[in-house]
Amino acid sequence: MIGVFDSGHGGLTVLRALNERLPERGFVYLGDHAHAPYGDRDAEEVYNLTLENIERLFRMDCRLAILACNTAAAVALRRLQRTWLADAWPGRRVLGVLVPVVEAIVCQPWHVEEPNTGPDAPQETVAIFATRRTVESRAYVGEILKRAPDVLIVQQACPGLVDAIEAGAPQDEIHGLVEGFAAELLELMQGVLPDVAVLGCTHYGLVAKAFRDALPPGTALLHQPDLVAESLVDYLARHTEFPASRQDAGRLDFLTTGDPAHVSRVASRFYGAATAFKALS
Ligand code: DGL
Repeated sequence: MIGVFDSGHGGLTVLRALNERLPERGFVYLGDHAHAPYGDRDAEEVYNLTLENIERLFRMDCRLAILACNTAAAVALRRLQRTWLADAWPGRRVLGVLVPVVEAIVCQPWHVEEPNTGPDAPQETVAIFATRRTVESRAYVGEILKRAPDVLIVQQACPGLVDAIEAGAPQDEIHGLVEGFAAELLELMQGVLPDVAVLGCTHYGLVAKAFRDALPPGTALLHQPDLVAESLVDYLARHTEFPASRQDAGRLDFLTTGDPAHVSRVASRFYGAATAFKALS
């Protein structure tokens, strides 16, 4: 089984894409709803919570875990990979959700860190909506500008939006919040319109329609879950040490650190399909 982790409901957007693209695989989804949102926590807390939950997935025998959480990926992933993973869990891997998005924007593979100066060198204006912690980490900005220095990036934090989604807030409240954040970003841009917008928090994918409605029609919305799914397909083709197992094919397990009844109710509404969460045992 492949583990998929998020602070709460947001990673379900990624899980859906993974399940569609990799039907021969089984997935365990773990939402740390008891501690969501992560986006306003300090970096040390995000690191410790992320490590604890990845360890839970590993103990359930997931050999590969996807951090379907931009905040955790931006703040904790590199540190986990460099200082903990190889010693604590040799042979296991943790992948994040930033890399496929950065690759799509800079039009080159991740391992190429030199600036893209080819004919397809991107010169666009990119808007990034994310949690406060992801924005402050400047992870997207640093990784994109290193490879595509002519891209103009404007970041917009959206405090309160994850809480509203986690609580199952009504559509008009969500739309009102998103309109406010989009208006703040457009004001910052002083008349320049974004060519591309990244919903750099997996929760925001659950309310993508509100972003679509609030942004100029010419702004393309990058679909992070599809990019992550494509990237995992490619990764698994190159890493045959993580083979599919026939008995896991199509299996989806949903686990939460929170209240399973409440989580299942809210998740099914946003996810668009029934999700029966169980409490972590
Ligand atoms: N969905 C997560 C992200 O992609 C975390 C949001 C939060 O817990 O604040 O950033």
